[in-house]
This record gives sequence, structure tokens and C-alpha cells, in this order.
Amino acid sequence: MSLAETTALAATYARYPVEFVSGSGCVLRDADGAEYLDLLAGVAVCNAGHCHPRVVSAVQDQAARLMHVSNLFYTEPMVRLAERLSARSLGGRVFFSNSGAEANEAAIKLARKARRGGDFLVAHGAFHGRTYGALSATPQESKQAPFAPLVPGFTAVVPEAMADAVGPQTAGVLLEPVQGESGVHPIDAEVLRAVRAACDEHGALLIFDEVQCGMGRTGTLWAYEALGVRPDAMTLAKGLGGGMPIGALVTDPGCADVFEPGDHGSTFAGGPVVSAAAHAALDVLDDETLLASVRALGERMVEGLRELPRVKTVRGRGLMVAADVDADAPPLVRRALDEQRLIINATGPGTLRFVPPLVISEAEVDEALRRLAAILG
Ligand SMILES: Cc1ncc(COP(=O)(O)O)c(C=O)c1O
Repeated sequence: MSLAETTALAATYARYPVEFVSGSGCVLRDADGAEYLDLLAGVAVCNAGHCHPRVVSAVQDQAARLMHVSNLFYTEPMVRLAERLSARSLGGRVFFSNSGAEANEAAIKLARKARRGGDFLVAHGAFHGRTYGALSATPQESKQAPFAPLVPGFTAVVPEAMADAVGPQTAGVLLEPVQGESGVHPIDAEVLRAVRAACDEHGALLIFDEVQCGMGRTGTLWAYEALGVRPDAMTLAKGLGGGMPIGALVTDPGCADVFEPGDHGSTFAGGPVVSAAAHAALDVLDDETLLASVRALGERMVEGLRELPRVKTVRGRGLMVAADVDADAPPLVRRALDEQRLIINATGPGTLRFVPPLVISEAEVDEALRRLAAILG
């Protein structure tokens, strides 16, 4: 039986009939030994590249020593990671989760507790995850409708209207500084500054979802660093664990003490193995030489994409890039996989997204552009 014939897996994904067995850097290998150039990186997860040796060795060492003790005790990798994330960003406390959706659930609970009964503002086109709170913050009819009723109190507005929509009832504004799943839409820094001012005026929490745009993806460790706007809290996951499942809600000191014992929890979150992996991923990604390369190669990719046939518009920040094409995007993704062994994805019917490992080389960017040209030509 080929793996694609299984009826045992839930049918929640339209998977491609490819079985990957190993990877390193930007390259994945299938069961027949064929090599693929990966411009998707999980889905924006393997920022440090596939099986980065530092991540692998951190996981191996920690797994051989201690894997789990529950959150009733301290472990060194977890505490050191919390200290490191706090010191390197907002300066408050860190709640660990296992995924991006769970990090956003924590953020939603935090804001609701800080302003009891308060409401949330989210942006049109946002994606915050599939669990009920995160889904309620994800204003997309196709994703929400089958699962109604949702959690009450979420209103979606266009980012430009957000500042005016914040009021005394607003508990939190949840925003991706660069929207990922909607097709890489950076939110204007001016707009974010106005939302920051409105949140300050009304005492609402500004929460940035950096699940996809954090961990170096946009050319700074956190996307907010390039915008001149500091959130009250941010959520992380994806690239944080270097391929291992870990998420986090990081607060500033102002809302650090909202959560008290018993308010929230997770059996596995912040365990020693995933925390050790996150340390190794941070060692790789919190590096100015690498971040400068993300910015330079992002520009190279944007310029290269603009030269390709059937490409209408290109946008992005760092190595979070999308191209609107004058063609049906999903079949192009399939052809790229089958004909060029190039892994990309489509965020909509006419939009291709490129979120490669951040360790990609200039030669690999050029090779990817060459393979794309063959598909688009
Ligand atoms: C911005 C953003 N937030 C949250 C999520 C949900 O993360 P997870 O799939 O780990 O629950 C995603 C996933 O794509 C995302 O892009």
C-alpha cells in the first residue's frame, strides 16, 4: 500500500503524494532518494533549516537526560529559555504552549482576565489558529462557519479602521504585524502606531501574533523591532523550536502578573527537550550576520520574482514573500513539486508564498528562481 492510500489519517489535509524521509538545510529527500529544494520550511517552521546540527544535538543530549517532569517542577532548559525570551524581547513573563493556536489561546485568556468581559479586535484576513478562541479570532467564513457558535466578543475590522474601533470595552487587539496565511500582507507601521496609541488611551492590550513572522523570518528577530511599535504581549511558535513543537506567550512587565496559579496550564508545554531545541534555534537565528542575510536574500528573491513571467505583484519582508500570479496558483504548486522538485505553497487561488529556511544560500535562491521560471514560462 502506498502511504497516500491510507484511510486511517483524518482527512483534514489535502496531502501531496510524496513521502519525505530526511532533510538538511533547504533540501528534503524522498523515499526514492530524490532531492527537493524547500521554500516552505514545514510551513515557516524550519527557519534554522532541516535538522540543523545544533538543534539535533541539543535534542539528542536532552532526550538522553530528561524528557518530562510536568509543570509542577522547574527544569533548567525551560527557565533559561523563559529568561532568554523575556530579556531579548518584552521583559515580562513567558507562558509556554505546544503550538501557535495555544499561544494565542493564552493571549486571549490573559487579555480577558486583564479586562473582564472585554472584547477583541482582529484584522480582516487574519489567521490565528484552529482552536476555538484562536478560530474565533480568525475571521474567515470557510474556516469558522462549520464550527459555529464561536467564542463571543471578536470583531474584525480592516487594519486602517482598528485604532478608531478601540474603546473602553476593548480587552485586546490581536494582530499579525505581517499577515502570513492571507498571502503575506505587512501591516503599515503608521497603522500599527495608531493602534498602539489607541490601546494606550483605553488601557487595552496590544498583542502581536509573531507565530509566523517572528524568529528572524522578516530579517529582525521579532517583526515588531523593525516597526517602532512595541506590543504588550506577543505569541510565538513555528520557528521557535527549530522543528520541535513549542509555542510561547511573552508579556511585558505591565501584564506579566495577570496570570496567577491555576489560571492556565498545559501538560507538555515548555518541556526540557523542546526548550533545549528552542535554545539551539535561537543560537542559530539570533545572529546579526544571519539576519542581514535574511534581509538581503529577501530583496534578491523579491527582485527575482518580479522578473518572472505571469507574476503580477510581489510583496514581503525578509524571507516572508508572496507573489500574485496571473494563473491558477495551486496547480503551479503541484507542477513545481512534480516537475522541478521545488516546494512552495499557495495561500489562495492566485497567490504563491515563499517562506524558505533562513539559512538558504544565494545560490539556492537563484536556483529556486530558475525552477520557478521553468514553471511560469
Ligand atoms: C500567524 C499565525 N498564528 C497562529 C498560527 C497557528 O499555529 P499552529 O498551527 O501552531 O497552531 C499560525 C499557523 O499557521 C499562524 O501563521
